[in-house]
Amino acid sequence: MSVDEFSMSAEKRSHWLLSFWRSTVGKKVVMALTGAIGVGYVVAHMLGNLQVFEGAEKINAYAALLKSNLGLLWTARSILIAAVGLHIVAAYQLARTSQKSRPVGYKRWRSVGSDFASRTMRWTGPLLGLFIVYHLLHLTTGAVHPDFVEADVYQNVISGFRVWYVSVIYIVAMLMLALHLYHGAWSMFESLGVNHPKYNRLIRALATILTAIVVAGFIAIPAAVLLGFIS
Ligand code: HEM
Repeated sequence: MSVDEFSMSAEKRSHWLLSFWRSTVGKKVVMALTGAIGVGYVVAHMLGNLQVFEGAEKINAYAALLKSNLGLLWTARSILIAAVGLHIVAAYQLARTSQKSRPVGYKRWRSVGSDFASRTMRWTGPLLGLFIVYHLLHLTTGAVHPDFVEADVYQNVISGFRVWYVSVIYIVAMLMLALHLYHGAWSMFESLGVNHPKYNRLIRALATILTAIVVAGFIAIPAAVLLGFIS
């Protein structure tokens, strides 16, 4: 292939990507794929966090291990930031497109074929975004944590959750995560073209199990601190 041919095919590829991104289907696929990255992250984060039940040494060593390879840490962070960014932009643009196609709104709106979780995606998403900002200031930088100790994740989690309203904020945020994750997990398959009555029940069942495990795993931590099981 000559240099000219190569640059022409690269141009064609970038045109294809751009028109894919501009289409509704393309944006839905982007939402599904970036959502899948988010699901992978929350599952891994929940499992990592459960080490708090094995004591300070274990979870602090785990946190130190993650930070010992800065290249790997920042690669993972960059992927996550890019995924969350694309997820938000695609969600916003899809919402605008559907608004534009019905600018007046329904006279008498009834939800047809949608459930509580799907109708709440538009506010569970932004609220989860706000929670993540608070969470980073609380347990990563310590800016809003009154007893933050650098590199002592165990102590930061325990003393953080001893403040009852902080635990309540986390538990409410996890319930929002439950709604978002449940709807996101099964609609992800629909966006990727898997939508058949034969599989839909199985997909919904898997989404329910995944959501229950992730959310119960996260909530167990503030609950255990408040109930005095770990201190
Ligand atoms: C009870 C629930 C949770 C606990 C105890 C927890 C704990 C932590 C801790 C201790 C850190 C700081 C780690 C360190 O600096 O070494 C952290 C960071 C983080 N958490 Fe959570 N977390 C919880 C829920 C969540 C949820 C639900 C999300 C996302 C929806 C989330 C997203 C993040 C992110 C993005 C970071 C920053 C990771 C980085 O430094 O790159 N966390 N979490």
